[in-house]
Amino acid sequence: MNQAAIHKILAGKPGSKPTPRKLTQLFEKRRGANFTLIQDLFFSLYPETRHTASFKSLQKLLADGFKNRPAELKHQDLQRQGDGNWYQSGAWVGMQLYVDRFCGDLKKLAERIPYFEALGINFLHLMPITKRPSGPNDGGYAVNSYTEIDPRYGTDQDFISLTAAFREKGICLMLDFVVNHTSDEFPWALEAKAGNLKYQEYYYTFPDRNMPDLFEQSLPEVFPETSPGNFTYCPQMERWVMTVFNSYQWDLNYTNPAVFLSMLENLLELSNKGVDVIRFDALAFLWKKIGTSSQNLPEAHRLVALFRLCLQVVAPGVIILAEAIVAPEEIVAYFGKGILEGNECEIAYNATFMACLWNSVATKKTRLLRQSLGNLPPKPDPSTWINYVRCHDDIGLGFDDSHISALGWDPQTHRRFLLDYFCQRLEWSPAKGAVFMYNPFTGDGRITGSTASLLGLERALEEEDALKISSAEAKILMLYGIILAAPGIPLIYAGDEIGMLNDYSYMEEADKMMDSRWINRPIHDWDTVSGLSSEKNHASRIYFGLQHLIALRKQQPGLADVCSIHYHDSGNNHLLVFERDGETDNGILILANFDESPQVVRTALLGALGYMREGQFHNLIDGKTKKVRSGLLELPPAELLWLRKY
Ligand code: GLC
Repeated sequence: MNQAAIHKILAGKPGSKPTPRKLTQLFEKRRGANFTLIQDLFFSLYPETRHTASFKSLQKLLADGFKNRPAELKHQDLQRQGDGNWYQSGAWVGMQLYVDRFCGDLKKLAERIPYFEALGINFLHLMPITKRPSGPNDGGYAVNSYTEIDPRYGTDQDFISLTAAFREKGICLMLDFVVNHTSDEFPWALEAKAGNLKYQEYYYTFPDRNMPDLFEQSLPEVFPETSPGNFTYCPQMERWVMTVFNSYQWDLNYTNPAVFLSMLENLLELSNKGVDVIRFDALAFLWKKIGTSSQNLPEAHRLVALFRLCLQVVAPGVIILAEAIVAPEEIVAYFGKGILEGNECEIAYNATFMACLWNSVATKKTRLLRQSLGNLPPKPDPSTWINYVRCHDDIGLGFDDSHISALGWDPQTHRRFLLDYFCQRLEWSPAKGAVFMYNPFTGDGRITGSTASLLGLERALEEEDALKISSAEAKILMLYGIILAAPGIPLIYAGDEIGMLNDYSYMEEADKMMDSRWINRPIHDWDTVSGLSSEKNHASRIYFGLQHLIALRKQQPGLADVCSIHYHDSGNNHLLVFERDGETDNGILILANFDESPQVVRTALLGALGYMREGQFHNLIDGKTKKVRSGLLELPPAELLWLRKY
C-alpha cells in the first residue's frame, strides 16, 4: 500500500464541504503518515549530524504551503482522494501546446476552451509559461522564475483565472517544473556570477578543469551538436559551471539542502496556483556522481520521492509526471521501487511505446514493439502512462539493444536505418523528418518532424497524389487510434489533429535555427480549423476521424488504465494485435496493419478470443458488423480495427 492509499483511509468520508478545522486535521494526519519516510529520505541525502536545522525548515515549508493553499483547492484535493486514482480514468484525453504558438496568450487560450471541448480534450499540458531569458531559452525550459508568468503570456492573474476556468470545465492542467536546472539569468545564478559564494553552491561550480574533467569521463552528452560537453566557463565568476543541457541552463546542486528546500518552496507555490499535474522535467539527471552517467542514480529517486511525499502532505490532489526518456526499465523505476513503490511519480511518459511505434512504421513489423512492451517490468497499480505518438521533443531510438539483436538485426545498423528512413536519406521513404543532434563519434542521432510529415503527408501533398494522401491520413489515425486504446492518458500534440506539417520557419530565427525540434512545433493553423466543417480535405478527415475515436474511447469502460492489456501473437508480424480488458464482457481487441500491403489474420484466433461469432465481427470504429467467408480476415494497409467482444 502506498502513502496515497493510507491517506485515503485516514481521510475516511470527510463530508462534502469539510470545515477549515477538519481540513487542517487531515493535513496533520497526512503529515504524520508521511513523517518517518520524509525524515529518512531527507537524512539519507543530508546527514542528520549536520542538517537538523534544514529539516526543521522543511517542516515549516509544509505548514506554510498548506496555509497558503486556497480553500477551493483543498476541497478539490479531498474530492480527488475520494475518487480513487482519478488519473487512471479512461475519460482523460490530453493535448500538449505552446501557448504562444497555439493562440497567443493565456487570455486567448481561455477563449479556446470550446475548441478543446469539441475535440474531446480535457487534459492540457501547457509548455513553460514562466519568465525566461529573452535570448535562447530552450522554449522556456531555461527558467528565470518558477512561478511568475512571463509577460508574453499575460499576468499572474490571467493564469489564476485560467486555472479557475479549467476547473469549472473539468479540464486538468499540467505544467512543467524544470527541476534539474535554472537559466543562467535566474536570481541565484546572477548572485553566483556576482561572486556570492552561497549561491555558487546552488550550482556545480569549479575553479579549474580538474573536477569537470573527472565528471566528463563518464557523462554522456545531451546536446552534442549545439552544446558539447557538460561544463561551461563563466568569465564573470571565473569558474566552470555544470551545464548538462544547453550552456545557459545551469544544473542545480541538490547535494546542498538549501537547493532542495528552495525548490520545494517553488513547487508548493506552483501547485497552490491550481496546477493539477506537475511535469518533473529531466528528473533522471537530478543527482551527479563522478564515475557514473549521473542519470537515474538512487539518490535521484530518493529526491523525487522526497518532493512527492512533501507535496502530497500539502496538496494530495496534485500528482507528478516523470519526464524520464531513458531505458525502458529505468522509466518504470520512477513509479517507485521497494519501499518507495507508488511513492515517486504517478505518471510517466511511455517513451518505449512511442519509439517502438515509429520503429514499426519504418520496418512495417511489430515484433520489437511486442517484445519490448511485453518485457517491461510491471508498473505499480496506482500509476499510469502518458501515451503519445510524438511530443515537442525529438524521437529518440531508446530501445533495448538486446531486443533488436534478438530479431537478428545489428543494433547500430538498425538505428542507422531508422534515421535514414525518417530523415530523407532513402528515396523510397515517404517520411520527411530531420536529424536531431547527430553524434558522429557514436553514430547516435534522433529524429524530429511533425506526425503528418513523418507519416508521408507532406510529400504526398507536394506530389498531389491522392492515394498517398489518404495513406498518410490512415497512418495518422492508426497511430492515434493505437494510443487511444492503450492503458494511460493519450496525449495529442496540438496541430496533429488537423495534420499539420513541419514548420521550417525556425531556420530563419537566430535563437532557434540550431534546434531542429522547432520543426515539429508548428504555429496553430486557425484558418484550417475554420474550414473544418465546410471543406473536405486531409485536415477535416483527420480531425473528424480523431474526434470520433476520442468519443469512442470515452464510451469504452474497458479502455481505462485499471483494465488489463494483453499483446497477442497473431502469427503475422505486420499486425499489432492487443486486447484490453479481455477477461470481461467489456473486452476490446485492437488490430493495426503496419504494412503497405493488405495483411491477414486467422479468424480462428478472433473466434477463440471471443471477437467473432458465426463468422461475424463487430468493429466499433465504423459501427459495422461484417461477415468473413474464408478463414482469414484481411486488413488493408494502415487499417485499424477496434473489435467488440461477443
Ligand atoms: C526536457 C524537455 C526538453 C528540454 C529539456 C531540458 O527534456 O522536454 O524540451 O530541452 O528537458 O530542459
